[in-house]
Amino acid sequence: MITPATDVSTPAASQEGTRAAPLRPDRNMALELVRATEAAAIRAVPFIGRGQKEAADGAAVDAMRAFLTTVEFDGTIVIGEGEKDNAPMLYNGEHVGNGHGQQYDIAVDPIDGTSLTAAGRNNALSVIAVSDHGTMLDASSVFYMDKLVTGPAGVGIVDIRLPIGENIRLLAKALGKPVDEIVVSVLHRPRHEKLIDEIREAGAGTRLMSDGDVAGGINAARHGAPTDMCVGVGGSPEGIVTACAIKALGGHIQGRLWPRDDDEKQRGADAGLRMDGHVYEAEDLVRGNNTLFVATGVTNGELVAGVRREGGYVYTESVVLRSASGTLRRISSEHLVSKWL
Ligand code: FBP
Repeated sequence: MITPATDVSTPAASQEGTRAAPLRPDRNMALELVRATEAAAIRAVPFIGRGQKEAADGAAVDAMRAFLTTVEFDGTIVIGEGEKDNAPMLYNGEHVGNGHGQQYDIAVDPIDGTSLTAAGRNNALSVIAVSDHGTMLDASSVFYMDKLVTGPAGVGIVDIRLPIGENIRLLAKALGKPVDEIVVSVLHRPRHEKLIDEIREAGAGTRLMSDGDVAGGINAARHGAPTDMCVGVGGSPEGIVTACAIKALGGHIQGRLWPRDDDEKQRGADAGLRMDGHVYEAEDLVRGNNTLFVATGVTNGELVAGVRREGGYVYTESVVLRSASGTLRRISSEHLVSKWL
């Protein structure tokens, strides 16, 4: 766990007039990690809309790696990215950070939405998620995971084993709104045709995402969220990253691994993963309550704005989530073009 930097505390009064447990201010490493996602997003800028997804990813990977070395921690990458496309990677097992201090598990997605970036479409993010050492599920040997994500209202209510229509009705009831006001996001893929039909038949609306289900999951779980639920099969690494954020948001996440063929099934089994319809709960995806999640917009999205260049400045927008405090911070930064591009 992160060591408290000081015992100075300011107890806050609760609504009942009793005093809440004292806050123990400690280090929020995510405030340092955000420099790495900012750097990755900025370095991807020359490739936005240029049809070069591997070059965009490579630039983001290099920038992220360089900035991670400045942060005081001993991080092991449990979830790297890029296997699917032989993209440049921050490798699983690679050590990041300056090697001193606390040990952590790291999941990185230097760009979630490389195709979005290459096409100049919305919703690409640069992402880092962190948890205590040994707590992150290494699901990387099975590329896909079926996921169900909601905000806090869905906790103890929805279940990935239930039919989607039933989950929609249960969530609507928990949220106190009619089913026809429920909005469900899902990746727009042929594999989801039946799921999309069932969502609509249940009376809910859909938001079809062309890519980027990390942002999709968070946008279903955060306060004031534009959607109510995010479902369907997306990347397993993205599922672990999303779980770190959902823990901080107090939302619901479950995942079921979705192997594509027998070879992948074998690789998953060799890695000790279960693919018999086993449901991985939030606590299985990432154990404990010490997760950090940092994301900077590469292109514009509902979660954060993308990198914008104006005159001598580059503007970035990021979110920083921390489960220990349940805080969501938005960080807007101005960077000098002369130092970057
Ligand atoms: P990339 O950044 O690797 O392009 O991933 C984008 C993404 O849409 C993820 O958000 C999602 O989990 C996954 O790809 C879905 O995979 P696929 O495109 O094969 O359906």
